[in-house]
Amino acid sequence: MPLLTAEDTAAAIVAAAVWAPSVHNTQPWWFAANGPELSLYADCGRQLPVADPDGREMLMSCGAALFTARLTARSLGWIPRTALLPDPADPLLVARVSWAERAAPAGFETRLFGQVQQRRTHRGGFDPVPLAPQLLTALQAGAARDHAELRVIPGEASQAWLAATIQAADQATRLDSRRASEQAAWTSPPGSPRPDGVPTSSYPAHPTRTVPDFPSRDFARGRGWGLPPASTDATAHSAGVVCLLTTADDRPADWVNAGQALQRILLTSAAVGVAAALHSDPLEIGWTRHLIRSHTADSSYPQLIIRLGSVIQTAISVRRGPASVLAARAAATPGRAHASPPAAAPGPGGSPDGHCSPAARRTHCR
Ligand SMILES: Cc1cc2nc3c(=O)[nH]c(=O)nc-3n(C[C@H](O)[C@H](O)[C@H](O)COP(=O)(O)O)c2cc1C
Repeated sequence: MPLLTAEDTAAAIVAAAVWAPSVHNTQPWWFAANGPELSLYADCGRQLPVADPDGREMLMSCGAALFTARLTARSLGWIPRTALLPDPADPLLVARVSWAERAAPAGFETRLFGQVQQRRTHRGGFDPVPLAPQLLTALQAGAARDHAELRVIPGEASQAWLAATIQAADQATRLDSRRASEQAAWTSPPGSPRPDGVPTSSYPAHPTRTVPDFPSRDFARGRGWGLPPASTDATAHSAGVVCLLTTADDRPADWVNAGQALQRILLTSAAVGVAAALHSDPLEIGWTRHLIRSHTADSSYPQLIIRLGSVIQTAISVRRGPASVLAARAAATPGRAHASPPAAAPGPGGSPDGHCSPAARRTHCR
């Protein structure tokens, strides 16, 4: 097969990277191609100013896109070279990925790549089927490669305690109109053509209750939106294997790495038919995040709660097309202080031109 041009390679990488998970499906990224090099930028016009004022979840989402970009380069037979947060003067430049050397992809890389567009976030309970211990060992080793730790929360008492922090955060969101409006702004009504946010096709109208009770976010807000139940069985389901993703520190590089680890975990699980439910709400509120952190023996920083298990998934998600997030070559001219994002609609609450003011760069990206 003839080699793709650098331009086509960059386009193929971006076309896959957009399928990374992101908080509320904000897709807070854009890319600039320059020969055999891609720059990945955080788009803080798509940041959640209330839930994510520091840009932690925005950078985790970008980290997931970065892992997908690197994996796609591997699937095309390139060895990617990555520079993380390479320009201290531009905190929105998350990474530069370049490719020059070739090596055939390994079997597991091809299998993971095969899941990039298939994988879906699960919301609800799992079938009571135990996971293979080898899978958990592989996931933990994978997270360590991205400088993160995947901790399994053992025992029902610890799991119930963690579930209670999610219940508390859920209540706090319902009672805080700014939080609730921000979440609602990233939720679309049925039939919406919107290519971002959380569509009604991606969550159940009546999520199964789990034991202990890990509530899903209330995207529908009592309007009955969501997928019809897959079965009439109303009994509680397993919460699955409950895990906490942590990092030793809590700087932007840790957030990007946590996002890379997350996508590696999700794709590795999906490759063996294991789904994941994600809970970040208690980590968006200072006191609940602090509480969870105080329960980690070494005061590591909690980045995401992940539940893993077996279930038949019917969820469908949406994405902006690669053309909306890949800047034209001219915009990526070396020597420019900041490359410009493609002209695309910002998310709700985003600045109208998709650019961030210097103040926003400082506030949201430290
Ligand atoms: C940092 C981060 C936090 C997330 N938090 C939640 C969450 O609290 N609840 C939830 O249901 N999904 C959560 N998600 C999943 C996103 O909603 C999901 O990735 C997005 O809607 C796209 O759908 P997909 O993963 O099925 O492609 C989170 C994802 C990321 C990357």
